[in-house]
Amino acid sequence: MKGVILAGGQGTRLYPLTKATNKHLLPVGRVPMIFHAVQQLVSAGIKEIMVVTSTEHMGDMVRCLGSGEEFSCSFSYRVQEKPMGIAHGLSLASNFARGDRVVVMLADNIFGGSITHVVENFARQKEGARVVLKKVSDPTRYGVAALDEKQVMYIEEKPKQPPSDYAVVGLYCYDEKVFDIIQTLEYSARGELEITSLNNEYIQLHQMEYEIFEGKWMDAGTPESLFEANRIFFDEG
Ligand code: G1P
Repeated sequence: MKGVILAGGQGTRLYPLTKATNKHLLPVGRVPMIFHAVQQLVSAGIKEIMVVTSTEHMGDMVRCLGSGEEFSCSFSYRVQEKPMGIAHGLSLASNFARGDRVVVMLADNIFGGSITHVVENFARQKEGARVVLKKVSDPTRYGVAALDEKQVMYIEEKPKQPPSDYAVVGLYCYDEKVFDIIQTLEYSARGELEITSLNNEYIQLHQMEYEIFEGKWMDAGTPESLFEANRIFFDEG
């Protein structure tokens, strides 16, 4: 199983903190934000990790993460020239991960608890994909899952009228066919290849499983949530 950490984007919601640096290099607790995703993947046993970021921040990213030796893993890097969406960022890992399963993390998603059980549950899955849900008070900010008793019926990106309170968090598991499916996706109205479109394709195939994350979780991409993430992780050391 390979890991992909997506650390692109312009971080506009955090401007001017992101005027001179990449959002994922800002502090969360005592370390740069992206360290959290690296540590989560490594603890889950994923040691080959591709980091995708933009041209302007690749130098800082490599300086910050290095070869991976410090984290007991090995990093590969790829540039995402333009912010063309999360599924587009993942597609850049196709040569790196083709023929393998892949666990994808958005580097601004901070988990207050281990993700290892998610990876283990996915490893037991025969095929398909796995998403992780978390009940939130502000679902319109996220991809939101419509659920029946057993399965995700569909996912809607930033819905005005959310079908539930369950956000799809930035941790996704895909089987070997993910890169072929991405090639069939169309760009959304905002010019992105959406991760939600990819997930909906797996739902159509009846190959999507889900679980609810019990620990704390946040998307540290806004000033408020970045502050909250720092409060929690600084206390925890
Ligand atoms: C992205 C995804 C969304 C997901 C969220 C989790 O949104 O598009 O489906 O719920 O990450 O953090 P973004 O934060 O890029 O707006």
